[in-house]
Amino acid sequence: MGANQQIHAGRGTEPADQSAAEGFCFAHLSDPHLTSLHEVRWWQLLNKRLLGYLSWRRKRRDQHSGDVLEALLTDLRSICPAHVVITGDLTHVGLPDEFRQARLWLERLGEGHAVTVIPGNHDAYVRTDWEQSWAHWQPYMQSDGAGGQAARAAKDMFPSLRVRDGVALIGLCSGVPTAPFVANGRLGGAQRRRFAQILRETRERGLFRLVLLHHSPRAEDENWRRRLTDGRALCDILSREGAELILHGHGHISAQASIQGAAGDIPVFGIPSASAVGQRVGRGAQYALYRVARADGRWQVQVNVRAWQPAADSFVAHSERQLSLPAMPSTRR
Ligand SMILES: [Fe+2]
Ligand SMILES: [Fe+2]
Repeated sequence: MGANQQIHAGRGTEPADQSAAEGFCFAHLSDPHLTSLHEVRWWQLLNKRLLGYLSWRRKRRDQHSGDVLEALLTDLRSICPAHVVITGDLTHVGLPDEFRQARLWLERLGEGHAVTVIPGNHDAYVRTDWEQSWAHWQPYMQSDGAGGQAARAAKDMFPSLRVRDGVALIGLCSGVPTAPFVANGRLGGAQRRRFAQILRETRERGLFRLVLLHHSPRAEDENWRRRLTDGRALCDILSREGAELILHGHGHISAQASIQGAAGDIPVFGIPSASAVGQRVGRGAQYALYRVARADGRWQVQVNVRAWQPAADSFVAHSERQLSLPAMPSTRR
């Protein structure tokens, strides 16, 4: 599939009557770890990346498959969602060449307005020059109306806000360089404060607030080396300001949890890696399709999970569920 054969061309920032009736359909995938380190040079590994490279040689290159990702793209192309969200870890050790490889893959998914990317900890493995790294993903990360403004670091672009057919896609950046053997994430105070403000503003607009981040917001569910270190502060904001749905990756497993919000429990869903061959039970590749529609004063959310099936060499229906969530009326005139 070439760059001119993208998954979809969905667009639209405000609700339209027809799409409001049918709902907004998007796909969530995570942790594709789609890049190859076969061409890496030794001098590129003189830091924490050496450990990441050894981990890739020892196990990761066999756990993630380009063939699985190709099957996922084929499946997505047949379903044609209006939007795709990717919750981080597109790379292994965040090398400049990996950012370029990932950009080419993103172009096959769609244009920047139809695909939303947030960083994972592997993408932020060590500090990198903006132009050689995040700049390649800018059209896929930037907020509506940002107009290609130059940033100096990935965190400058987050929280991001995109609005598509009544759904606010709110992206957070939890990827930060960490010590060896540590895969923690952190948002930081400035990002958290701006996030709380965006939750308030989008609630006033009566939008469905979809929060995207790489790490699980529930730090208590992760071991100390893999958790979001300011997860408690994030959960306090979510409890106070509310949100309709939170999606994350990082764990490479299917996860369901909730955070208590003022208007009811906020569902929190994690998804396995999009490229995992499934060497361990429950770790095979999956992605999820969501359809969000407003009806009778509530949000109706249809969730269909599709899973990699090696015998069929394709993705097949795995599970489905229906959520009915309280909807806030717009308070803006
Ligand atoms: Fe990952
Ligand atoms: Fe991760």
